[in-house]
Amino acid sequence: MFRARGLQRLLKPASSGFLVNGGFFSSLAADSQRLAGKVAVITGGASGIGKATAAEFVRNGARVIIADVQDDLGHAVATELGADAVRYTRCDVTDEAQVAAAVDLAVQLHGRLDVMYNNAGIGGDMAASSLGAIDLADFDRVMAVNARGVLAGVKHAARVMVPRRTGSIICTASTTAVLGDMAPTPYCVSKVAVVGIVRAVAGQMARSGVRVNAISPHAIPTPLAMATMAQWFPDRSVEEHRRILERDMNEMAGPVLEAEDIARAAVYLASDEAKYVNGQNLVVDGGYTVSKALNMPAPAAR
Ligand SMILES: NC(=O)c1ccc[n+]([C@@H]2O[C@H](COP(=O)([O-])OP(=O)(O)OC[C@H]3O[C@@H](n4cnc5c(N)ncnc54)[C@H](O)[C@@H]3O)[C@@H](O)[C@H]2O)c1
Repeated sequence: MFRARGLQRLLKPASSGFLVNGGFFSSLAADSQRLAGKVAVITGGASGIGKATAAEFVRNGARVIIADVQDDLGHAVATELGADAVRYTRCDVTDEAQVAAAVDLAVQLHGRLDVMYNNAGIGGDMAASSLGAIDLADFDRVMAVNARGVLAGVKHAARVMVPRRTGSIICTASTTAVLGDMAPTPYCVSKVAVVGIVRAVAGQMARSGVRVNAISPHAIPTPLAMATMAQWFPDRSVEEHRRILERDMNEMAGPVLEAEDIARAAVYLASDEAKYVNGQNLVVDGGYTVSKALNMPAPAAR
């Protein structure tokens, strides 16, 4: 124990950083450049998790192409984050040609693509709860964006990454991919499919020098989740919707899950610090999906 403490002191100078591979790694967001020089495409980057990730990537030295269908918002985010580092392009991920074009834009502008974050997603009809009420047209729409769109992103990122034998592909899944029944079936199935895509291609990618991983966020009050709350609880206020997401669905005492937490997980997977992490689903849920309270009266305390 004392030896470990001594070692930690050696590795950790007075400022908040430590030595990695002979270099100094700082954990301070303000001065870290963990993605220095990297080029990234982020689908769904105009809002929520994607927007927070674009900001965190830029803060860490990356150049980012935001690919989304919300043009005004996308352009505004690009301007906000700095036109020299961020470009917006319209890209509907249900159209493979548009996904291919977003990837090609990165190569055209910057000569390569280092990180592809397949993050765009929709909730679909969140009101449908019973199996008998599933609308298969809604299922097709949800799968087209959340699963097929991710596969298109993986395919076209691989097209330009494999020849360079390097790259990191990240896909947004969800805790609904880990535990069933937390959202309507089409959404759950689409997110299980995202984890399935990662597992299906990780070996092939590894042999090509490319990594592919998923991130599974738990509830965060983004426009997508807030719209779901409005559908589930039409009589409650916006503040109550936010409290349900941030507190009632939260397993942790204290911290509240924010889009920035997912952004930092994405920075890790995008960076060379994760050079041997492949085929994983990084679940960012405060432990929500690894425990379940017994449905019984509390046992007598000793
Ligand atoms: N917020 C949560 O609680 C939560 C939890 C787990 C997973 N997720 C997932 O996180 C991802 C990001 O969602 P968010 O919560 O930030 O919501 P959000 O609505 O803020 O962002 C989603 C973005 O995806 C874009 N998009 C939708 N359809 C698209 C399409 N066809 N092509 C391109 N872009 C499209 C939207 O325009 C939007 O900018 C989604 O995949 C979502 O399923 C969210």
